[in-house]
Amino acid sequence: MVAIAILAAGKGTRMKSDLPKVLHPLGGKSLAGRVLESADPLNPDKRIVIVGYRAELVREAFAGLPNLEFVEQLEQLGTGHAAVQLLPAMKGYEGDLIILNGDVPLLRSDTLVKLLETHRKSGMAATILAAHLPEPKGYGRVFCSEAGQLESIIEDRDCTPEQRQNTRVNAGIYCFRWADLERVLPNLSNDNDQKEYYLTDAVNFLKPVMVVDCDDFEETLGINDRKQLSEAYAILQTRIKDHWMRQGVTIVDPSSVTIDDTVTIATNAIIEPQVHLRGNTAIGVSRIGPNCMVENSQIQDGVTLLYSVVTDSQIGAGTVVGPYAHLRANTEVGENCRIGNFVEIKNTQLGPKTNAAHLSYLGDATLGTQVNIGAGTITVNYDGKNKHRTVIGDRTRIGSNSALVAPLTIGSDVTTAAGSTIVEDVPEQSLAIARAPQVVKLGWKPKWQRES
Ligand code: UD1
Ligand code: CA
Repeated sequence: MVAIAILAAGKGTRMKSDLPKVLHPLGGKSLAGRVLESADPLNPDKRIVIVGYRAELVREAFAGLPNLEFVEQLEQLGTGHAAVQLLPAMKGYEGDLIILNGDVPLLRSDTLVKLLETHRKSGMAATILAAHLPEPKGYGRVFCSEAGQLESIIEDRDCTPEQRQNTRVNAGIYCFRWADLERVLPNLSNDNDQKEYYLTDAVNFLKPVMVVDCDDFEETLGINDRKQLSEAYAILQTRIKDHWMRQGVTIVDPSSVTIDDTVTIATNAIIEPQVHLRGNTAIGVSRIGPNCMVENSQIQDGVTLLYSVVTDSQIGAGTVVGPYAHLRANTEVGENCRIGNFVEIKNTQLGPKTNAAHLSYLGDATLGTQVNIGAGTITVNYDGKNKHRTVIGDRTRIGSNSALVAPLTIGSDVTTAAGSTIVEDVPEQSLAIARAPQVVKLGWKPKWQRES
């Protein structure tokens, strides 16, 4: 049996933010969200998030997750004081408890598995995760005996200058036999430089304690300020891009590309420079970029997407989009379509082989197959109060510079004349012209040129 608890009650003063530190986003997920996820493979039977500063926001962020409860730390008097708040919720629990700092988001699940296994094999009351950091400033230092057993953890600010030279740090990730931690928690004091109750003191009380070193120190980096947040983002990005390149995705210039770890990309896709893939996005065997942002969208195979922004939309196989297109809010583009320069499409479905190649706005519309939208066509979907739909049948050709005033249904095989303002439905297989007839005045001159 294993339970996990996440320390997430602190404000994170050094972030200089009203948002609790643990809710700051890192590549599309919050810091604490990542910490929580890293423990999923352990299948914990109990998960506790300790909340305090703006607790309602933290509760809201994780509401509804299975096996998850919240414990409130009303005053943030230190990590040890946070752990004391676990006592009622953990009463009678007979397994191990892994405590994780909510601000250590790069931890790999494998490392937690190793921590738990080592802990169980050793049979000791506690096992901690340590790492050698090139820049250990700010971290608690871990001192071990020659036999590798913990002697003490001393916070950076409580260290002597000589102790500070030690680069082996406490990662803020611990595995305790709960019954033993429960016994020592009431003995913590705040007799230190910060006047805080330290969880690390509980570890010191429980000796002999095992220390597991994490080989990849980047996993143990804690986020205390925005600079560290951006450093963590860079590490995360390297991991994600390396992963996709190993899967056979070409990323032409990784340094100019960002990819959330919620994104999937097919083998042999080509990601050109300056591409940003976010949220629940799936990319087929397609060429994306240069210069695209794709968010919460699914792109099928054989798509070319150039200098465009796509959000909450789907693009069918073989379709060419851009340069400079904006697809958003539930747009579904069919297969082998052409969406061209300066075209905005919102909440619209396009059948296969339909083209809108130049300078258009299509909003709240349904287009059939092989429709051609002439340059400069606008769906007039908004009357100032409500949005209305435009429906266009198969093979219909909308003339350039048309205004289609919705609600409007245009049948199949229709042609509308260029420059028309179409306000009434058009039946199938017809021509609609709605523009002033042209007048030609022969021999006409401007007034000032006329003889009086
Ligand atoms: C802590 C460790 C330090 C370790 C470092 C690793 C202690 C005393 N020190 O220091 O040894 O090297 O993490 O990153 O534990 N929190 C609460 N309630 C509180 C205070 C903090 O829930 O009263 C939470 C914070 O929200 C945060 C986590 O605990 O998620 C760590 O707190 P932080 O103040 O960042 O601890 P560090 O000073 O970094
Ligand atoms: Ca910290």
